[in-house]
Amino acid sequence: MTDNRSYRESTTYDRLVPKVKQRLESLPAFSPEEYKAFAGRLDNHFSQLFSLLFDIYGHQYDFYYHLEELLVLMGTAWFTRKRALKRRDLQRENKPYWYQSNQQVGAVCYVDLFAIDIKGIIDHIPYFKELGITYLHLMPLFDCPPEENDGGYAVSSFRKVNPSLGTIQDLQQLTDRLHEEGISLALDLVFNHTSNEHEWAQKALTGDPRFERFYFLFDDRILPDQYEHSLREIFPDEHPGAFTYLREQKKWVWTTFHSYQWDLNYQNQDVFNAMADEMLAIANLGADVIRLDAVPFIWKQMGTSCENLPLAHTLIRAFNAVCRIAAPSLLFKSEAIVHPDDVKSYIDMKECQISYNPLFMALLWNTMATREVNLLQAALIQRHQLPDGCAWVNYVRCHDDIGWTFADEDAAQLGINGFDHRRFLNAFYTGRFDGSFARGLPFQENLKTGDARISGTCASLAGLEFALQTNDQTEIEFAKRRVLLLHGLILTLGGMPLLYLGDELGVINDYSFTQDPGKAHDSRWVHRPQLSDAMREKRHDPDTIEHEIFTGLLKIINIRKQQAAFSGPDLQVIATENNHVIGFLRQADNQRLLVFANFSETSQPIAANIFRLYGLTYRFQNLLTQKILTLENLTLQPYELAILKALDADAIF
Ligand code: GLC
Ligand code: GLC
Repeated sequence: MTDNRSYRESTTYDRLVPKVKQRLESLPAFSPEEYKAFAGRLDNHFSQLFSLLFDIYGHQYDFYYHLEELLVLMGTAWFTRKRALKRRDLQRENKPYWYQSNQQVGAVCYVDLFAIDIKGIIDHIPYFKELGITYLHLMPLFDCPPEENDGGYAVSSFRKVNPSLGTIQDLQQLTDRLHEEGISLALDLVFNHTSNEHEWAQKALTGDPRFERFYFLFDDRILPDQYEHSLREIFPDEHPGAFTYLREQKKWVWTTFHSYQWDLNYQNQDVFNAMADEMLAIANLGADVIRLDAVPFIWKQMGTSCENLPLAHTLIRAFNAVCRIAAPSLLFKSEAIVHPDDVKSYIDMKECQISYNPLFMALLWNTMATREVNLLQAALIQRHQLPDGCAWVNYVRCHDDIGWTFADEDAAQLGINGFDHRRFLNAFYTGRFDGSFARGLPFQENLKTGDARISGTCASLAGLEFALQTNDQTEIEFAKRRVLLLHGLILTLGGMPLLYLGDELGVINDYSFTQDPGKAHDSRWVHRPQLSDAMREKRHDPDTIEHEIFTGLLKIINIRKQQAAFSGPDLQVIATENNHVIGFLRQADNQRLLVFANFSETSQPIAANIFRLYGLTYRFQNLLTQKILTLENLTLQPYELAILKALDADAIF
């Protein structure tokens, strides 16, 4: 026995393991060697798994029954895990922090919008390689309702690929090819809800008691009303509150998001097991990272907001423990777009090893609008640090809206009123604010609370769409620089940078979604355009904006990959004392790199004495322009990103 087990844990272990072994022995895939490997991992991590599950379900009469079922399904998954994946498990055990490396560059796309189908994605591997991509997140690709499906986030089966995208075999082929090319694959586990067409929901609809307990179904409004007292409305445009009425069944069902996305009831251990089984199936397809969708919502409790509750963390940790035993190299990426303290609460080696960095993303856009780096700088000083081993996934845009999730208390310290400031940002990014360069759309504007989020592509929000309409050459130039500056920061900050494909070409908003009844009410589709080879071909034509953005971005990607100091999470903010310029220092061994970004449309100096304060009295090379400089008189051009490498760095140490 490798861990210190309580009496309860060890008696359970001693009683359950032989039974589980016996059941596994009857499987055709059973092999004594594989069982030994599984049993070893189980032995190592049983205590963790048991205590977490006990905290959630220990009081239920059938706890031990479900625990046994879970161990059997985990063993079964292990037996079906391919040899190549088991080799990968071992490799990653030896190199566990691969996602912190400067060699890593992530990208995300919809299969259909990028390349029609999964085979198309395989054909585009050379494009990913050209961009230096080593981590590919494919947006939900499992079976979902044909019309409205929230971009695939309403899953009807986790075992079947959406037929319009291909088959499980295609997906497996893709995974193998990506792995051969050194690209890791991230897939979603949409585990807060299923679509109403999922087999579980369908069975619940017919009154099957086992599956009715998979969801939150109510005969009347008594409990829903009580819950709603303390719930936030997530998609108020679509339906008020958090529940949907099922006419035929005369019941209410919990639907945090769309009416066709039914929240799963994790108070039922059967649901935990069922989802663990789906998760391991996805892991066994070869996913390296699972994006845990909408993590804050998975545990509900009367009288609370039903977001970020302690047992939500316990649940994720229990899923994590399942992976440590049955799919050891699998990592979790958290998707929590909430208050920064809550975002951070999911990030831990025992919970989600990596996480979207929505605060940095929102503050990048905030800084673009205000031209003032105060909030961004404060956040980098106070909120950037993560537990050992963990990493941020830094992004400029993703498939979702931008929510202004900075902390009001941080803003207040700088004399900014959070509520008013969000109103300003929404006005700015919808182009309603006088002088704004941005062309975005409001998303889920809540007239009751005055709240809204923003949709729009990176290029449109950065001013390109407006500049092209007005054919203003200076504005076009500024917009390109803004796009590169934003990406330059996510590539140098530390952690996994994640490009939203299309942005590497400066693709602007696509308003055709308004013609599609399944999409018209959801403005996020404005930044989910159909991409094509013809669009991508333009990167080769030096006269195009696509070319300038693509090559500009590639240059920064290459710099990232050449400089070891861009590995790892550590960063020191350089207080530039110029509120338009953010600056930070990255270092590793004997290498020192300085990154500066000027968020304004005028040239900005940085006083020489600033650098002396930090002991940076060396010669530097600007890696983007190759120029050699001292920091006596550093002036940044409008929207300039500067990556400076200390040339005499050896002397520093
Ligand atoms: C996540 C997804 C979003 C989806 C929601 C519901 O937030 O990113 O696109 O609408 O979950 O699944
Ligand atoms: C969830 C997500 C957030 C998004 C919303 C709709 O709340 O956490 O990213 O704003 O869904 O897209």
